[in-house]
Amino acid sequence: MHMPLTKPNHFNADEQAADMLELGVCYYPEQWPRAKWEEDARRMVELGLAWVRIGEFAWAHIEPRPGEFHWEWMDEAIEVLGLAGLKVILGTPTAAPPKWLVDRHPDILPVDAKGVVRKFGARRHYCFSSRRYRVESARIVEAMAGRYGNNPFVHVWQTDNEYGDHDTIYSYSDEAQRAFREWLAARYGTVEELNRAWGTSFWAMHYNSFGEVDLPYNLVEEPSPTHLVDFMRFSSDQVVSFNKAQVDIIRRHAPGRPVTHNFMNQNTDFDHYKVGDDIDIASWDVYPMGGLINGRLSAEDKARYLRVGDPDQTAFHHDLYRAVGRGRVWVMEQQPGPVNWATHNQSPADGMVRLWTWLAYAHGVDMVSYFRWRQAPFAQEQFHAGLLLPNSAEDQGYLEVAQVAAEMKRLPKGELRGRAQVAIVLDYESRFATRALPQGRGYLASAIALDWYCAVSRLGVDVDFIGQHSDLNGYKLVLAPDLVIADPAFVTRLAASGAKAMFGPRSGSKTRDMHIPEGLPPGPLAELLDLCVTRVESLPDFHRETVLYGNTSHRAGAWRETVRTGEKVLATFEGDYRTGSPAMVGNDKARYLATLAQGDFLLKLIGDTLTWAGVETLPDLGDLRIARRGKLNFAFNYGSATASVPAASDATFLVGGRELDPVDVAIWTE
Ligand code: GAL
Repeated sequence: MHMPLTKPNHFNADEQAADMLELGVCYYPEQWPRAKWEEDARRMVELGLAWVRIGEFAWAHIEPRPGEFHWEWMDEAIEVLGLAGLKVILGTPTAAPPKWLVDRHPDILPVDAKGVVRKFGARRHYCFSSRRYRVESARIVEAMAGRYGNNPFVHVWQTDNEYGDHDTIYSYSDEAQRAFREWLAARYGTVEELNRAWGTSFWAMHYNSFGEVDLPYNLVEEPSPTHLVDFMRFSSDQVVSFNKAQVDIIRRHAPGRPVTHNFMNQNTDFDHYKVGDDIDIASWDVYPMGGLINGRLSAEDKARYLRVGDPDQTAFHHDLYRAVGRGRVWVMEQQPGPVNWATHNQSPADGMVRLWTWLAYAHGVDMVSYFRWRQAPFAQEQFHAGLLLPNSAEDQGYLEVAQVAAEMKRLPKGELRGRAQVAIVLDYESRFATRALPQGRGYLASAIALDWYCAVSRLGVDVDFIGQHSDLNGYKLVLAPDLVIADPAFVTRLAASGAKAMFGPRSGSKTRDMHIPEGLPPGPLAELLDLCVTRVESLPDFHRETVLYGNTSHRAGAWRETVRTGEKVLATFEGDYRTGSPAMVGNDKARYLATLAQGDFLLKLIGDTLTWAGVETLPDLGDLRIARRGKLNFAFNYGSATASVPAASDATFLVGGRELDPVDVAIWTE
């Protein structure tokens, strides 16, 4: 059955965010014979797709030899797709510089932490600090934006592709070293100031000039943590300025057309808020199967969720990137089946592509684009599913997208994700800090934040993410699981806000210089809590502490602090070491947890804290997750048994029903 083709979808300057979920796909016309394009475009529209992303690895196809541009094929591809009724997202092709460019200018290449050059033959082989690459990046973006800035079919631009993919934020090249020295000179003004901040009196690491400072790699022992965190800050700033340079060019040629970048799962190698400030829509790439394999869960839980993924990791990132995009978030790449790049690549359960699509919409995502249209029978990603098999037959993902497209028609339009009552602070510099000074393998900030998020989600409560710059208006509770470098200005704003707060261990434990605060940790949090941390310890996996909370003993985690406090003691450590020492303290405004809690203990702590803050919770949802978007309520079943949806008795179900099968979705209004 062929649906009629829609009319071409010309860009118009008043274009607003869509009032219903839109779908799209990633397509590589350069990888397929010209003869397939029309048919592909027709089938995309027939499936219900509105968007198609192209171009992000096409540099060598556009400019196969220096200065020799071949636009014909791209002109034609854009036209074929646009005339079929699709809106094009055009990627700048800088994630894959051509071989001739690298051969001409080898200083473009990045250098790894062993000092070895990372060579041509895959992608992302460039160093953000290479001046030559900055020039070349501007040149190709200028050419592309000049040609397509006003193209009626190109509605959105994507810069580059996945900053940080394949560990490419940190480069140890000569160019990076030069730029790092300049960055340090700008930050510190005098080398004496750098010596003070880095604590170079320790081990006689003193520098006489900025020109003497090397990048922190291949050292005999670890570098000064300030050296390392400064290198991470510097590398982050390089990404921000690289991206901004492209955005500025695009805006000049394509005024009014939104710019996005596709961020990644679990990447905190650079400050995403800062890149987000320069673009219009934050998009990200959703690969929950690999995310599970590489993620925080125990082997037992990974086995349990093997084909559905971590029930919280994907939702966490939708919420995070909604903050990065200041409200506008898209999925640029949604896994449509098994992928190729994790250590193991299991298939998602049938139904998961549909579930992930609705999950995205529930969490505020306005467009979900699948990666990729057709599975490639050649090159690196042969094992990576597409919506179509290599022979163009429909694969499972295609069928599920068709189902979503049909279900969309049953939903009211214009529903928007509202502000949550609970905010979680994610601070990128704090992530740099714990990576520079881990102090124990059991302290993994990414896992800790996700554990806290999971506890809130299991109690049916929606979450927003915030940075220390964010507006706090309207929040009842701010959770800061790992805010190591607390900004005093943020703490003051928090103190003045209507929100209550709960902090995890290590909060406020380092200054911006990566020193222990003068008044001891938690540093600036002293404004909220009469509290002082006098000792920290990290503990091995084979040992767990016991914490008495209420009248129950709980096993607690890999981190323990000894605190002195004038506040109310809400939980205490038990056992043979410093028995009775406070494990959680608090007052009417703020609470501080001096250990890592997980599982049921964390669920209990977070549940009580939500209630304390006046946030209404549901009984533990187990493997069910719910989310709200406007008047729509969504439930997702990640478990292996049928579950009852916590809908009001007068609920009207638009998709699914009160009893939800595994891998199924319900959508209702009340
Ligand atoms: C992403 C990348 C895509 C593709 C995909 C495979 O990281 O942006 O180009 O490689 O992974 O899962």
